[in-house]
Amino acid sequence: MTYKGRSNCGELSLSDVGREVDLSGWVDALRDHGDVLFIHLRDRSGILQVVFSPGHTPPEICERAASLRNEFCISVTGRVAKRLMGTENPLIKTGEIEVLAVALSMISKSEPLPFPISEKAMVSGTGTKVGDLASEDLRLQYRYLDLRRPAMQDHLIKRHRINKCVRDFLDEQGFIEVETPMLTKSTPEGARDYLVPSRVHPKHFYALPQSPQLFKQLLMVSGFERYFQIVRCFRDEDLRPNRQPEFTQLDLEASFIDEEFIYELIEELVVQMFQIGGVTLPRPFPRMTYQEAIDTTGLDRPDLRFDLRFADATDIFKNTTYGIFKQILQRGGCIKGINVKGQSEKLSKNVLQNEYAKEIVPSFGGKGMTWMRVIGDQLESNIVQFFSKEEQLGVIERFQAENGDVLLMIADASYEVVTSVLGQLRLHLADRLNLIPLGEYRPLWVTHFPLFEPTEQGITSSHHPFTSPDQINFDPKNRKALLELRSRSYDLVVNGEELGGGSIRINDRRLQQKIFQALGISDREVEEKFGFFLRAFDYGPPPHGGIALGMDRVISMILGTSSIREVIAFPKNRSAYCPLTQAPSAVAREQLAELGLLDLGGTQSLPGTEEQSDPIGTLSWVSRIGIDDGERPFIAAALKEAVRLAGLVNEKAENEEPLFLPVNVINRTRKGSFAQTSPLAGNGELFKNAPLLKGNYFKVPSILE
Ligand code: AMO
Repeated sequence: MTYKGRSNCGELSLSDVGREVDLSGWVDALRDHGDVLFIHLRDRSGILQVVFSPGHTPPEICERAASLRNEFCISVTGRVAKRLMGTENPLIKTGEIEVLAVALSMISKSEPLPFPISEKAMVSGTGTKVGDLASEDLRLQYRYLDLRRPAMQDHLIKRHRINKCVRDFLDEQGFIEVETPMLTKSTPEGARDYLVPSRVHPKHFYALPQSPQLFKQLLMVSGFERYFQIVRCFRDEDLRPNRQPEFTQLDLEASFIDEEFIYELIEELVVQMFQIGGVTLPRPFPRMTYQEAIDTTGLDRPDLRFDLRFADATDIFKNTTYGIFKQILQRGGCIKGINVKGQSEKLSKNVLQNEYAKEIVPSFGGKGMTWMRVIGDQLESNIVQFFSKEEQLGVIERFQAENGDVLLMIADASYEVVTSVLGQLRLHLADRLNLIPLGEYRPLWVTHFPLFEPTEQGITSSHHPFTSPDQINFDPKNRKALLELRSRSYDLVVNGEELGGGSIRINDRRLQQKIFQALGISDREVEEKFGFFLRAFDYGPPPHGGIALGMDRVISMILGTSSIREVIAFPKNRSAYCPLTQAPSAVAREQLAELGLLDLGGTQSLPGTEEQSDPIGTLSWVSRIGIDDGERPFIAAALKEAVRLAGLVNEKAENEEPLFLPVNVINRTRKGSFAQTSPLAGNGELFKNAPLLKGNYFKVPSILE
């Protein structure tokens, strides 16, 4: 058989009946009926039934076929025939035909499989998925087998089609694909860098890009005007189901544009991408400012598939005599709530009081929850009696409450606590009450994010420091005013998941420097990290902006997979480990020596830290004692002497037996023959700071992945 004459299993149909065909592929399933052997032959295009029977197959071929096993790689020659009436298989595309084998060549055998590859549904109609039979780590260890499964092949083939759609679309729009370096300098996207040591420059490191942000902006300075790249990015951050240490972005940037250009371009592109998965997205995508998103859903990536928006009730209770609300409002707090429409049957008094108010809300970080059920046109709850008639009417009107509704309110001195707790409650209720319609897709632009967010020490950029503020007249030293600044940024959110983000950039060197100043980055550090970048802004930078879409997330959503790992050929597992290649792994000492990295944990210091290390600063920090410049020389001398003496002791200790021990030796190992309960457990002392108790245990939040 030659490759030219080969037919694809999944492409044959009734119109081929009577043809002699050459097929190659893998044995997906076998059914041995004594004399007659049926196999499902699988290639990339699909599955086809092949029949070995003494009626049409030479005896020596029948004999050879008897030794076939799952996943043997074979070639078969045979004649396409219509299946007998009643033996058709509607579960496969080629279910009306079969191939009557006349020749068989065994290309290669397979060991018994670590997990079944064949999708049983195609044989028997029972839908066992491989996920039910094998752990994900086993699937990843034998990923090449896992990828043989038609479902996984379909994911990667669709991924290819979506990538192609992106390239075709952007090419039509005048975008040029340009590759940017993988071995580069750190890009500030908020995660830790993966570092690559350089052999040629000992003790110096490249950083793998967290994104091509700086390079794409430089390409705008270079005059490319419209750039894109489907590019791998690397971020060392805590993993979640929708995060990988290396992931793929569709990164793009354009010059002489504004936000509207990006919205229009990306909406059209995303609609086309989703169409490949058979999903039609409604256009135009609605827009919501960050502030509105937080005010009404508690999240900066609201899921619009269900309502449960917050209403603010603070003003209704401004003169209340109800103690808890009164105290909270006196401390500048707020009250927000949601109306869970028509759910009073499912949310009984008991569920609301004992589950939500006592357990769920505290686990979300709330101190309490006020609930009310609407019966007829009255509010009913354990505290309604403390509300005035006016307050009750105000609540009914504000929440548009009707018979059968349930109102939940969170009051707290902190706006952040109210919105965060209510936001988590909103998601919890939507899930519990099945309010999220399946198969619906609701895109949204979230805009005008704060430019900065607070940190313990100062402030940091909410996106990255190259994002344009919505105004340029600000004092880089006024922390409060800085935290009120908004940015010209936008995130693309679909069904509560952030699929992409970007912004209009700063293209003025002075403004960029002001941002670095606001961030507290010294001139020296700016020069060291971004000098090359800022210098480019001295040479006529155009106005520009862009966006990056997380391709793994987009594709996973289009294909409806449970995690982005399902649409990546060789992903890392949940601990950033690759069970297939066993990466990361230890390396030989020689390799470390070659890179000058052998003694980093010993006396030698990390590159660069030697010159920068400040033992007196460290001493001052550890002991919480301020040391002024005048004292430094004395302390430095004392420290030097202490190090010298410690060295002497160390030297002596190597050869001499210790004469005495400064403390008595007591064996403090607990025997462990019986369980000991602390006496404090009985009087509640032990658990007094635990967030949530159940019996003699304290509860911790459940971990989803
Ligand atoms: P940002 O950091 O928002 O923006 O990243 C863009 C998109 O990339 C996806 N993403 C990830 N996907 C999988 N695993 C990860 N660890 C991961 N981290 C991010 C998300 C996210 O929305 N340079 C800017 C873009 C710009 O300003 O143009 C940037 O990288 O879907």
